Amino acid sequence: MRLGIDFCGVRFPDPFTLAASPSTGTGEMVERAFDQGWTSAVLKTMAVEREDVQLVYPMIAGLDHQDKRLFGMENIDLISDRSLKDWEADIARLKQRYPASVVIASIMASSEADWQEAARRVEGAGADLVECSFSCPHGMPERGMGAAIGQNPELTERTATWVREAVKVPVVIKLTPNVTDITAIAMAVKRSGCAGVCAINTVKGLIGIDPETLRPIPAVAGYSTYGGYSGAAVKPVALKCVAEIAKAVDIEISGVGGVYTWRDAVEFLAVGARNVQLCTAVMMWGYRIIEDLKEGLEFYLERKGFGSAADVVGRALPYITKHESLSRAYKPVAEIDPAKCLKDDLCYIACRDGGHQAIELADDRLPRVDAEKCVGCGLCTCVCPVKGCIGLKERK
Ligand SMILES: Cc1cc2nc3c(=O)[nH]c(=O)nc-3n(C[C@H](O)[C@H](O)[C@H](O)COP(=O)(O)O)c2cc1C
Repeated sequence: MRLGIDFCGVRFPDPFTLAASPSTGTGEMVERAFDQGWTSAVLKTMAVEREDVQLVYPMIAGLDHQDKRLFGMENIDLISDRSLKDWEADIARLKQRYPASVVIASIMASSEADWQEAARRVEGAGADLVECSFSCPHGMPERGMGAAIGQNPELTERTATWVREAVKVPVVIKLTPNVTDITAIAMAVKRSGCAGVCAINTVKGLIGIDPETLRPIPAVAGYSTYGGYSGAAVKPVALKCVAEIAKAVDIEISGVGGVYTWRDAVEFLAVGARNVQLCTAVMMWGYRIIEDLKEGLEFYLERKGFGSAADVVGRALPYITKHESLSRAYKPVAEIDPAKCLKDDLCYIACRDGGHQAIELADDRLPRVDAEKCVGCGLCTCVCPVKGCIGLKERK
């Protein structure tokens, strides 16, 4: 199979993994996901001490964009409130029933002893990898957990080293994007000797204010807090983080953030990820999306003549460069295909009020590009609703 890929020394049947989330909240849920075709999952983050995990509801609010529902999602969820003992039983059962599937246990703790105990116990139960959450933006920073670790290179290196020393299975550190320089944190993980990083956890945000009540959402008895933003809206942030790490640090990367389709996955592989995780898309559309993900990637690899998913890894990286290195000699110009034009004036208005006044409307309302004024900024190609109607061509 072309889809199989090694990540941190473990063979994954395909690059698609369920991210730590409500969709991996119990062993029974993961079994249902495996029955529908998923072959790997990161279990909802668990801890030795879970007595003070006190969840609040509602914990989810959505960002709609025009007619698109849930373009972005914010959660104020915490880690699992199930006991580590229950999770150990679930891991053992998953490995017994699905030996070829990869079970990753996500852990979080607030002391060296607890980090090491949690890691040893999930390894003992049969977990193939341990993922450490150093990255939840809202999850218990008052106890030195979550992003409090992942925002500090020294804490990251020290904590990652504790976990790496405790177990034989590979350890992956899940990073927060809520830092100035994610490569400094990835380098700290590299120094710890851990096998890989997972980027990204959610982006810290405030998803909205209800204009009727003037209260923030999700409102818990009228109050809210800053939460973790995820979904399609965060994909550019996640792609940038993965690319930056891949270019700066020699470490294996699992990419996560806004992956919905096999195309998104190809993009993450192309910027250096060897594994791709999904959370919000699965919460929205269900486990069934795995069928399209696997089929789509398989067809893509075949069509492009790639022998395996690993052949795509890092392909785009040489072409991501510094702004000052970009060619100043390249001069594109917009070209409109009149046969495809709907005469909706969108390119004309955008160019007039957000560009260079280079599109004119003829008497027949067909837009025409004034090549003298057009700088090739690309705005018209983005606003046109018809794919392929407006393109950029290199000037002769
Ligand atoms: C409701 C919810 C709960 C989450 N819980 C966890 C968690 O327990 N541990 C963790 O490492 N990440 C957790 N995440 C973060 C996701 O695993 C993922 O990193 C993030 O949502 C970005 O991916 P996405 O855009 O595919 O959702 C959670 C995300 C959501 C939306």
